[in-house]
Amino acid sequence: MKILNYGSLNLDYAYHLDHFVRAGETEASFARTMACGGKGLNQSIALARAGASVMHAGAVGKMDGEVLIQALEEAGVDTSLVRRLEDVPSGSAFIQVIPNGENAIILNGGANHAVTEEDIDRVLAGFGKDDWLLIQNEISSLPYLMEKAHEAGMKIILNPSPMNESIWKMPLEYVDLFLVNEQEASMLSHHAEDPIREFTRSYPSAAFVITRGSKGCTYLHGEETVSQDAFHVTAVDTTGAGDTFTGFFLGTLAEGGSVQEALRIASAAAAVSVTRPGAGSSIPEKEEVLAFLNADQAK
Ligand code: RIB
Repeated sequence: MKILNYGSLNLDYAYHLDHFVRAGETEASFARTMACGGKGLNQSIALARAGASVMHAGAVGKMDGEVLIQALEEAGVDTSLVRRLEDVPSGSAFIQVIPNGENAIILNGGANHAVTEEDIDRVLAGFGKDDWLLIQNEISSLPYLMEKAHEAGMKIILNPSPMNESIWKMPLEYVDLFLVNEQEASMLSHHAEDPIREFTRSYPSAAFVITRGSKGCTYLHGEETVSQDAFHVTAVDTTGAGDTFTGFFLGTLAEGGSVQEALRIASAAAAVSVTRPGAGSSIPEKEEVLAFLNADQAK
């Protein structure tokens, strides 16, 4: 079984402020950092740090994207399917971070939005039945990618972040596992009164991981329900916490762990990540996650 993450790679410019900038306001930041991010890149790094072997596919600008490829390679991710594009900048994110760790993000798709159907055909030629395809919502041609992956018999895992109307163009009935937060579940249920019930009922053969911030997370598949409490830490920057969770959850499962174990390790990894600034750079090594869990147990 091979894992393919076809996803975004972004240059993240983070500005630390005491509040989000409002209309008409000009605010000085305490600090500015440039780091590697993008939901795709972050999730590939987290998968690799959880111990899984992962191939990343996507696109960067030839002029500015080398640093993104290098960050993936340093984490042990196979980057042979990342294209370097002429005349297109890499994707980027302008991130405001406030003292309680919350963020507000503006994206520019750049090379992430230059992924074509021809690219997808070339990449998927190397994958087949039972291989895993992980996707987020930051690259172009996603409906085509899902169609072709389904035809090839791949298992499709969707983290629909950032959620927007484009989600309705995707063949969601092909998704085997949804990883969503409560707001995303609500939107996917068309804001039903009982969103999780309605959402899970709409895709009866899929499995679901619903994250609920400080209230923990739940895995649902048919009659099976597995829950995990959140670990409480002091957050400095929540950017990339969801990506860390996704990568560690899937990485633990791929390594043969149970769903309960995967939820526990993923929740701990996300908790460690929010105590550090940045997205890709805040993702812990597996040993750090295990040390956090041991320390938590000893409390
Ligand atoms: O999930 C965090 C990520 O969202 C950031 O790294 C940023 O690039 C945006 O894609």
